[in-house]
Amino acid sequence: MTQNNIKPVRKAIFPVAGLGTRFLPATKAMPKEMLPINDRPLIQHVFEEARDAGIEEFIFVTGRHKNMLEEHFDYQPELEQTLQARGKDNMIAKIRNSEMPAGKLFLTRQPKPLGLGHAVWCAQKLIGDEPFAIILPDDLVNYEEGCLTQMINAYNEHGGNIVAVKDVPRAETNKYGILDINKDDGDIVSIKGLVEKPNPEDAPSTLSIIGRYILQPEVFDHLAAFETGAGNEIQLTDAMAKLLGKQAFHGLRFKGEHFDCGSRLGFIAANLAYSLKDEEIGGGVKALLDTYK
Ligand code: G1P
Repeated sequence: MTQNNIKPVRKAIFPVAGLGTRFLPATKAMPKEMLPINDRPLIQHVFEEARDAGIEEFIFVTGRHKNMLEEHFDYQPELEQTLQARGKDNMIAKIRNSEMPAGKLFLTRQPKPLGLGHAVWCAQKLIGDEPFAIILPDDLVNYEEGCLTQMINAYNEHGGNIVAVKDVPRAETNKYGILDINKDDGDIVSIKGLVEKPNPEDAPSTLSIIGRYILQPEVFDHLAAFETGAGNEIQLTDAMAKLLGKQAFHGLRFKGEHFDCGSRLGFIAANLAYSLKDEEIGGGVKALLDTYK
């Protein structure tokens, strides 16, 4: 149950303007968010996770050459008719599952790649004055209860701001936003500092943010300053750090296996994990893997 003073999280931002250079040439004309993990594109995995968590409004921060993302969630009458004529009811169910309910998809654009903080700021008007989620489609978490659902449960208990976190090897702190921990209660960690991509020797911990956030709208006040940070980009982590001490801020050690699908190896690993648990082809994938031993 949501406490009376905790406003519900109804909206989610999906930053999808990135170029996907690590997957070239596959992403030369196709958005990286359309790369499939098992039977559905990355963007659909995270859409379903948000929908399952009770999100009502889906905000894509998009850019040039990304039209395919909105097409993917459209009603496709010709395709449905063809499948119906062929008696492929299971496929009809699958494509209906990827339809966005009318009036629930909102699009805004990030004209220049100025950083994640800037991408989020581009959605300010669509969020208004309420808490919201951010989901980075590169990050997938494989677990029965979706990562965002776990976070919303934590949010309903603690309020304020929540980021999804996991422990990483110290050598990798320069790839993530890293927490400075105030109090570590196992699943829930209260945060006193946040640093974007610190060198291993400077990192205040090895607890890193993965791409799920629940934030209060005050973060926009800090994003609007357009201050640049690590990599000379406008960093979400830096704006979040300015909320510390003013609002509750927690990290949630979520349950489930995390895949960085923005890296080629993470992408392959996710494909293996998701296809191994697929009812139709899981056994076949297992047998296939055995042949490569
Ligand atoms: C972004 C954030 C970083 C976070 C990461 C999670 O970095 O800036 O704080 O840890 O996502 O995937 P990016 O991967 O876009 O460089």
